Amino acid sequence: MRVSRAARGVDPTVVTSNVASSFFASRECGLFLGDAREVLRTLAADSVDCTITSPPYYSGRRHVGDAVHEIGGEKTVAEYVEALASVGRELYRVTRPTGSYWLNLDDTYERKEWLGIPWRVAFAMREIGWKIRNEVIWHKPTHVPRAAKGRLTPAHELLFHFVKSKDAYYDMDAIRQASSPPILGKRGVVKTPKGNVRTDVWTLPIEDSVFPQNDYAVFPEALVEPPIRATCPRGGTVLDPFVGSGTTAVVALRLRRKAIGIDASADCLEFTKKRILEVIGQPTIRPPDALRTR
Ligand SMILES: C[S@@+](CC[C@H](N)C(=O)[O-])C[C@H]1O[C@@H](n2cnc3c(N)ncnc32)[C@H](O)[C@@H]1O
Repeated sequence: MRVSRAARGVDPTVVTSNVASSFFASRECGLFLGDAREVLRTLAADSVDCTITSPPYYSGRRHVGDAVHEIGGEKTVAEYVEALASVGRELYRVTRPTGSYWLNLDDTYERKEWLGIPWRVAFAMREIGWKIRNEVIWHKPTHVPRAAKGRLTPAHELLFHFVKSKDAYYDMDAIRQASSPPILGKRGVVKTPKGNVRTDVWTLPIEDSVFPQNDYAVFPEALVEPPIRATCPRGGTVLDPFVGSGTTAVVALRLRRKAIGIDASADCLEFTKKRILEVIGQPTIRPPDALRTR
């Protein structure tokens, strides 16, 4: 792949379109610098078990670099949806037949109208072939208070779970919640139930950004952990095409999965690399399978 510096006048830490480079490679993890739409095209088909990601939200939020190809700055919602559909198409190709794609998206108001962007994107994914398995409501008890007069304060985001087939890999026992009280038999507690199937409403506080130079919203680790446990087998590969400060990759590695991360910002990847090295120690150069076959 061609490596290039950004065009004059553009933040040098953000690559322009049509460039991508391998930023870091070890036995357990690969990081790529570039536009997710382009880097994904270089990954092998049917090689990823599970993607978990949080793309930049539609407009309004200024991010690192702000380069032309950076997703989120599109002029219309339709263009934004199409940008995420381009990513969704490549993810469909690189995902194994039993694989999953978890997509976290926030919504926004434009001229006092709630745009419904996450569902527009979800339907675009259906057009590609993804099947919607769940819509998880991430309830944020520590939401930002608003002073609006004619509407309520948003305190949730959506997390969609898409699958390629009805036979998608799913380890429910890995994410059951303890049920209480324990079941009592004639001789006292005789059976420990496996636990309840969790609901599709997850209450998780927002986490402060661990990456001080960056105003991107960061995933709570607790949002990423159940999807990895349930939909990526141990030793399998987890991908985040907008890896940011590396939360998905770090949690995946801790849970003994391999990780691939892509980001358009070299600053983000530098930070992510440091976090990853803390988890895996010094790397040996032998990338995950998805990176080797192309
Ligand atoms: C919301 S942040 C991801 C935060 C991440 N979930 C975390 O926990 O840190 C979105 C990321 O997408 C990156 N980004 C924006 N446009 C991109 C593109 N076209 N290709 C790849 N990454 C892009 C930004 O640099 C940013 O790090």
